[in-house]
Amino acid sequence: MSGSICLGILLSGRGSNFLAIAQSIRVRSLPGVEIAVVISNVADAGGFKAAAELGIPHKLFVSQGRLRAHHDAEVIDCLKNYNVDLVCLAGYMRLLSPQFIAAFPNRILNIHPSLLPAFPGLEAQRQAFEYGVKIAGCTVHFVDEHLDHGVIILQRAIPVLETDDAHSLAARILVEEHIAYSEAIARVTSGKYEILGRSFLPRLKALP
Ligand code: GRF
Repeated sequence: MSGSICLGILLSGRGSNFLAIAQSIRVRSLPGVEIAVVISNVADAGGFKAAAELGIPHKLFVSQGRLRAHHDAEVIDCLKNYNVDLVCLAGYMRLLSPQFIAAFPNRILNIHPSLLPAFPGLEAQRQAFEYGVKIAGCTVHFVDEHLDHGVIILQRAIPVLETDDAHSLAARILVEEHIAYSEAIARVTSGKYEILGRSFLPRLKALP
């Protein structure tokens, strides 16, 4: 793994964003980036099985019934053991403890299926549809201690169609998510950015 930027992917479900990232790496659109480990907190998560099938290291840390601090400590240890540089939450249905966030400062990304700060939390696509928005989309952001709140790296927007229902809208947002996540990883792993206040600003060179 030496020389590569190592990702740790955390998921709880079907894992389509994980698979999209894996595909970007496979077709070399994320040069110098590898998935070091996939971690699931749910035993039968589709993404966890997919990691096994792809031969990607995968670890299960069941969270149900565990204290957040204890569970997170195990996950942090695992990420450190795999020399993870960047943690990517990809449908990880669990809030991170402050200790977790402090262990990877500005090194944890999340993808959310709305144009934040609108519609944080669960079922964001349904919330947006039921609110009657005309533009929907997704957001990749750094994770901070608040839910769906950290600095925004990028967003992709789509129009809500007259023919949409909550399901078709979610499906079309998911297509954008799969593009957005790899693009955000490319931007962050390039190092060519600066964070000023809440603004993620692309730069020509990586800052020291
Ligand atoms: C995605 O909609 C993502 O934005 C949200 O959870 C869902 C995960 O989907 N955080 P998948 O497991 O990556 O298919």
